[in-house]
Amino acid sequence: MTDSSVLGSWSIETSLPISFKIKNSPGILTPGNADLLEFGTTGPGSRRLVVIDRNICKYYLDEIQNYFACNAVDIHLVAVDASEDDKNLETLLEILREMESFGMLRRSEPLIAIGGGVLLDVAGMAAGLYRRGVPYIRVPTTLVGLIDASVGAKTGINFEIRRNRLGSYYPPIASYLDTAFLRTLPTIEISSGLGEALKMGVIKDGILFDLLEKYGSDLVGKSFTDCDCANEVINRAVDGMKVELENNLWEKDLKRAVDFGHSFSPIIEMRSLENNEFQPLTHGQAVAIDVIFSSVISMNRNLLSEFDVLRVIRTARNMNLPTDHELFKNPLLVLESLNDTKKHRNGDQNLPVPTEIGGYTFINDLALAEIKDAIGKLSELNKALDLECRQ
Ligand SMILES: NC(=O)c1ccc[n+]([C@@H]2O[C@H](COP(=O)([O-])OP(=O)(O)OC[C@H]3O[C@@H](n4cnc5c(N)ncnc54)[C@H](O)[C@@H]3O)[C@@H](O)[C@H]2O)c1
Repeated sequence: MTDSSVLGSWSIETSLPISFKIKNSPGILTPGNADLLEFGTTGPGSRRLVVIDRNICKYYLDEIQNYFACNAVDIHLVAVDASEDDKNLETLLEILREMESFGMLRRSEPLIAIGGGVLLDVAGMAAGLYRRGVPYIRVPTTLVGLIDASVGAKTGINFEIRRNRLGSYYPPIASYLDTAFLRTLPTIEISSGLGEALKMGVIKDGILFDLLEKYGSDLVGKSFTDCDCANEVINRAVDGMKVELENNLWEKDLKRAVDFGHSFSPIIEMRSLENNEFQPLTHGQAVAIDVIFSSVISMNRNLLSEFDVLRVIRTARNMNLPTDHELFKNPLLVLESLNDTKKHRNGDQNLPVPTEIGGYTFINDLALAEIKDAIGKLSELNKALDLECRQ
């Protein structure tokens, strides 16, 4: 029998079952499509808070309002600025204040977030904070959103000029994918999304890479959705991410293949946006340069052939992705970026590099001299390809 005069000690053990769907939902804003109202109360008196990227109002505001009106659901629409510069505490608080004034019920009025990766990340974080978590639904409207931000559990905002420094793992109850949104997406953002697809192809999925190598220029040149392989590209990218996340959703294992392209790029992307001296990089553009830079590092270690590196660079070029950037030519900044990423990986570099198209290993001892060599080699390869293009 325990001694009741002595204070006890306890340990609480429980588990958190997670499941959420990522569903293809063509015509998501067509009134007869029931997906957006699959969760929560419906019918007269029902309400939703809908958070959207202000930029997409001109294309989709009428459709959104019509969808809910036809389904007899009152909406409180919150349109926020949602560029990378707006991924901050102010936007987060703006959404939280709207949730408070709406008086959102805790379970039966899931927040609906419609927009690109930035909007989904900030709105998801607000949903995770409000009343310690209310349900939310993601509707991605960019290619990065469709193949990446819609799949995982992460939410976040930038803080102190650091990407996604504040955030949480807070999965939505559902993500609905409708590629029709891509019809209004600027080509540079299609290209940016293909940067994330390139990451997945090079590190994990040779078939995806082959598709990008063969049809990459069509995917950006024509309308993305008009290309026969568009769905296969999205399917393969989402599949690859799903498998990776399912096994490691909370990132207990900090050796992650899908961190490929995200080792040097976070700080460089932010610096490119904060200083007008430099060409600003979109998220997928920064990822693509990191993919190429990491591939060159691998080649310099004789882990990857020059032939494969050239295939990666040519494929990026075909998809209008940059293959180098002024900030990637600064070895100290590249090292600083890696050192910052190291903290995120709990002190290890865990740098994913390809060993073939679709295969990888991790490096943990990259030093400044190798970064300098990679900068020199990448510049040489780009010059050789410039010459090849002119001939
Ligand atoms: N949570 C995750 O797992 C995850 C994964 C990948 C990326 N992200 C985050 O996503 C962000 C990048 O997302 P992004 O590339 O979608 O950029 P974004 O959200 O900034 O959108 C890009 C631009 O396209 C506009 N736009 C969006 N949809 C449109 C449409 N259908 N038609 C016309 N214009 C449209 C936006 O207003 C913006 O100007 C980064 O902040 C990154 O950290 C998160």
